[in-house]
Amino acid sequence: MSRPALVVVGSLNMDFVCQVPALPPPGATVLGSDFRMIPGGKGANQACAAGRLGDTGLSTRMIGCVGYDLFADHLKASLSGAGVDISAIRATKSAATGIAMIWVEPGGQNSIVVAPGANAALGPRDVPSWRSTVTGAQWVLFQLETPLPAVQAGLKLALESGCRTMLDPAPAQPLSADLLRSVSILTPNESEACLLLGRNGGRVRLADAPELTAALRAMGAQAVTLKLGDAGCFYDDGTLKHHQPAFPVKAVDATAAGDTFNAAFAVALTEGKPVPEALRFANAAAAISVTRPGAQASIPTRAETNRFLSAV
Ligand code: RIB
Repeated sequence: MSRPALVVVGSLNMDFVCQVPALPPPGATVLGSDFRMIPGGKGANQACAAGRLGDTGLSTRMIGCVGYDLFADHLKASLSGAGVDISAIRATKSAATGIAMIWVEPGGQNSIVVAPGANAALGPRDVPSWRSTVTGAQWVLFQLETPLPAVQAGLKLALESGCRTMLDPAPAQPLSADLLRSVSILTPNESEACLLLGRNGGRVRLADAPELTAALRAMGAQAVTLKLGDAGCFYDDGTLKHHQPAFPVKAVDATAAGDTFNAAFAVALTEGKPVPEALRFANAAAAISVTRPGAQASIPTRAETNRFLSAV
C-alpha cells in the first residue's frame, strides 16, 4: 500500500449500547431498550471517519492494539470496510479487546464507561516501531484512551517525522506543557478545556472562547479548536481566530460526533482546504453523525457529507 496521508493512533472498542429513558443516577436501576453491539473506540472511530470521508487517493492507516477474540475481528473488519489500512494494529495475548458500555438518552446525550483491555497494552516501547508508518503522513491523530506515555512519545515521533499532530484530549486528564508543545492542533470540548486549564467546568459561552483558546495556546498547543456543541466550534492559531457555527439537526445520539469532527477536519486540511472551509466540512460530518445511532454505524461517507453541504 502507498504511504498513508493520515495515521490514527488510538483505541479500538466494541461498544455495548443501550437506549435509556434517562441516564441512571448512582444507585438506580433503569429499564433500557434496543441493546446493540457497535464498533467504536475513539481512535477507531476517527480512523473509520477518515476512511469514509477521504476523497479517492487519501489513505488512512490505524495504529492500535486488540486482543485475540471475536471483537477484534469485527473491529478490524469495520475499519477495512471503511478503507482503512489495519496492518499496524497489533494483537496481544495479555488482554481482551477493549469495550465500552454506553447509555443513550432521548435527545442523544450519553454516558460512557470504557474498559480499555488491550488498548492499555500500547506503551512507549511500541513507539519506535511506528516510525515507518507515520513517515510521510501529513497528519497523525491521537486521543487519550491509550496510555499517556505512548501518546506523548507518539506525538514527539510524529513531529520529528515531519507530520502535523491533532490531539483530542478525551477522556479528559491534565496534560503537561511538554506534551502540549508537541500538539499542532488541540481539539477539546468545553469540559475538557476547563479541566486542562484547572478551572471549574460548566457551560462555556461563545464569548469566552477566545480567552480559553488563548490560555490553552499559552500552555503549549500551537493551535486550538474548541468544540462548543450546538454553538459550533472556535479555532485559534494566534493569527486566525474563527467561529464556525454548527448545523442545526435533530440529534438522536452524540456518540462519535467528536471523533467524526476531528477526522473530517484532518481530511479537509490534508486536501488543502482553508481552515474555515475545513471546519464547515467537519461540522457537517459531525452533524450527520448525531442524527444516527451508534459510533461507527453513524459516521457518514464523503458523498453523504457533500450532499448535506450542498443542501444547506
Ligand atoms: O467517542 C466515542 C467512543 O468513546 C465510543 O465509541 C466508545 O468506544 C468510547 O471510546
